[in-house]
Amino acid sequence: MSTFRSVFIAVILATALIVAALLINRERPALDTERPEADMVAATGRCATCHREETPAIVVEYEASRHASVGTSCLDCHGLQDGQESLDHRGFTISASVTALNCQQCHSSQYDEFLRSRHAAPAFAAVEGAEPFTEEQVAFSERYHPGAVDRPPNTLARLEGASAIASGCVSCHKIGQPNTDGSIGTCTSCHSRHLASVELARLPTTCGQCHMGPDHSQIEIYEESTHGVLFNAQRDEMNLGADPRRLTVADMPVPTCATCHMSGLGGVGVTHDTSERLSYWLFAAVSERRPTYVQAQDNMKAVCGNCHTANHTDAFYEEAEAVVESTNERVLEAKDIMDGLYEADLLTPAPFDEPIEFTYFDYWHYWGRTAKHGAFMGGADFVQWHGNYQLLAQLVELRALAEELRTRHASPTE
Ligand code: HEC
Ligand code: HEC
Ligand code: HEC
Ligand code: HEC
Ligand code: HEC
Ligand code: HEC
Ligand code: HEC
Ligand code: HEC
Repeated sequence: MSTFRSVFIAVILATALIVAALLINRERPALDTERPEADMVAATGRCATCHREETPAIVVEYEASRHASVGTSCLDCHGLQDGQESLDHRGFTISASVTALNCQQCHSSQYDEFLRSRHAAPAFAAVEGAEPFTEEQVAFSERYHPGAVDRPPNTLARLEGASAIASGCVSCHKIGQPNTDGSIGTCTSCHSRHLASVELARLPTTCGQCHMGPDHSQIEIYEESTHGVLFNAQRDEMNLGADPRRLTVADMPVPTCATCHMSGLGGVGVTHDTSERLSYWLFAAVSERRPTYVQAQDNMKAVCGNCHTANHTDAFYEEAEAVVESTNERVLEAKDIMDGLYEADLLTPAPFDEPIEFTYFDYWHYWGRTAKHGAFMGGADFVQWHGNYQLLAQLVELRALAEELRTRHASPTE
């Protein structure tokens, strides 16, 4: 009798322990439970042993990476490549800096796609012009993005000065900087240096480091869109680290920036060329169709098609394209006013030396862009209050400023 009771109690206790363990495990983040045993990925070797003391965060980040679990070592990345400056370091020869060239040894297809994108040379040339690039680099990018690299340095940036450029513009635009070893770009802008993670790159906040603010409010627009709201509600249930070659809607039923602009989903292939799915130059003052309009729109619509019906997507695009059209009309109206003032010599040819030039710049660069971006990414507030309302109000302002200049010119007594 008593043996039966103790066996019975033992069985109950054992079951309780297993259930408790399962419950506790369920509460742990997926990263913990799905990662191989800690000692299997712990960094070994002299770099790691010493740096665990000297710069522990780097070693911890590295150990959480896929690189650690597949055995890509410190020296695999830090090793010297052709054209790099060498550094003698604790008995090792390492590269003085780790660039896209180091990543390219093992990820050449990602590098090639990236190189074709506006994230490469065009991003840096938007600030610094063609000068920092070699002739071949300029010619290469111009084939894909005419006028995007073969251009002068940005005028506004020059007026603001070197320190503003270094800590401001370039902090974002260095995603496409030329490196001294001949490569272009900064892969770590999206993957970080040592975590080197796909999950990180798929988070909206990662893109939002640069894609934010009144001139390109993509992160703010996303946060208020249905997609952003659902993402925040459901992110814990999503498999954000899913292998890009096998990503399905079941892993991520809600799209992030990366899903629409980069991920492979359904019949659409994964890409590091963020231009492949864009049909307009929305960032321009007046947005024209890209030469790749048809193909690009097919690509993006096919992404939507993984989750929505074709009718839903077509109706959405029709509304968004109408916003592009009406914004173009408004900006052209404002541009006419400005052109008239320059022709009548009421403004100096120098840029940004008169108040109305700032009003006009804000007009298309803030409100015009925001309306268009809001329409294509589901940000109603940005189409309306930070877009069309401002387009209406600021056109009144521009007209008044222009009128004032004309009156002052007609009676230059004061
Ligand atoms: C015996 C200790 C030791 C070893 C071994 C070691 N490092 Fe270091 N490393 C250091 C220290 C100390 C610094 C400077 C840290 C500081 O400034 O706070 C440093 C700095 C660095 C830097 C920055 C260099 C710079 O000039 O900015 C890199 C990159 C680096 N180590 C990578 C490596 C790699 C890769 C290995 C293995 C091939 C390695 N280290 C091996 C101790 C070590
Ligand atoms: C996926 C490639 C990769 C791997 C693997 C890697 N690193 Fe790095 N590491 C980088 C990059 C990129 C930088 C930034 C270098 C630069 O800006 O020149 C960097 C920078 C560093 C720095 C200077 C960081 C600072 O903030 O001052 C140290 C130290 C360093 N790595 C040590 C290590 C050690 C130790 C390991 C192995 C445990 C390791 N790295 C593995 C890519 C890598
Ligand atoms: C020596 C080869 C090597 C180098 C150098 C290297 N990687 Fe990797 N990387 C790998 C391997 C192997 C994998 C795992 C591939 C797989 O899962 O099939 C990987 C995976 C990745 C992943 C996917 C991680 C994930 O979360 O699934 C990213 C992102 C990545 N690397 C970025 C980089 C970046 C950025 C650099 C340069 C700073 C770099 N790699 C340098 C070999 C390398
Ligand atoms: C917070 C990050 C950030 C800062 C700071 C920043 N930019 Fe940008 N910039 C971007 C992003 C993101 C885009 C892409 C906008 C789009 O395509 O909608 C962009 C677009 C541009 C464009 C239009 C694209 C092109 O190739 O013509 C120009 C020009 C530009 N930036 C110049 C500058 C200059 C000059 C500065 C400093 C005075 C600056 N940016 C500061 C992130 C930034
Ligand atoms: C604009 C952000 C961004 C930049 C810059 C970027 N990546 Fe990625 N990368 C991503 C995203 C997002 C994914 C995952 C795509 C998806 O959702 O499947 C990814 C995936 C990867 C993978 C995993 C591919 C696989 O099939 O497992 C590798 C490797 C990688 N990137 C390497 C690089 C290298 C090398 C560079 C620099 C040349 C780079 N990335 C620059 C955003 C970026
Ligand atoms: C370090 C800053 C930075 C990060 C991080 C970044 N971008 Fe960008 N992105 C830029 C800049 C700068 C441009 C403008 C390039 C140009 O046209 O001159 C740009 C342009 C773009 C464009 C427009 C390309 C075109 O052809 O007009 C898209 C789409 C884009 N980024 C998507 C993304 C996505 C998705 C992510 C995250 C996975 C991301 N970006 C992360 C800086 C960044
Ligand atoms: C539901 C899909 C979707 C999501 C999510 C999404 N975008 Fe977009 N994005 C679009 C569409 C559609 C366009 C307009 C495409 C066109 O021109 O045909 C666009 C345009 C852009 C552009 C404009 C490029 C230009 O010409 O000025 C940038 C930059 C961009 N997105 C970045 C982002 C960033 C960053 C995020 C996340 C914060 C994001 N997107 C989220 C679908 C999406
Ligand atoms: C990975 C799946 C996925 C992708 C890709 C995707 N969406 Fe969505 N979208 C959703 C989900 C889920 C909802 C919420 C639907 C619901 O509640 O029934 C949603 C909601 C929406 C809504 C708000 C609901 C409504 O009808 O008013 C719009 C608009 C929308 N998506 C447009 C798009 C467009 C346009 C694209 C492509 C540029 C796109 N989506 C890409 C998953 C996706």
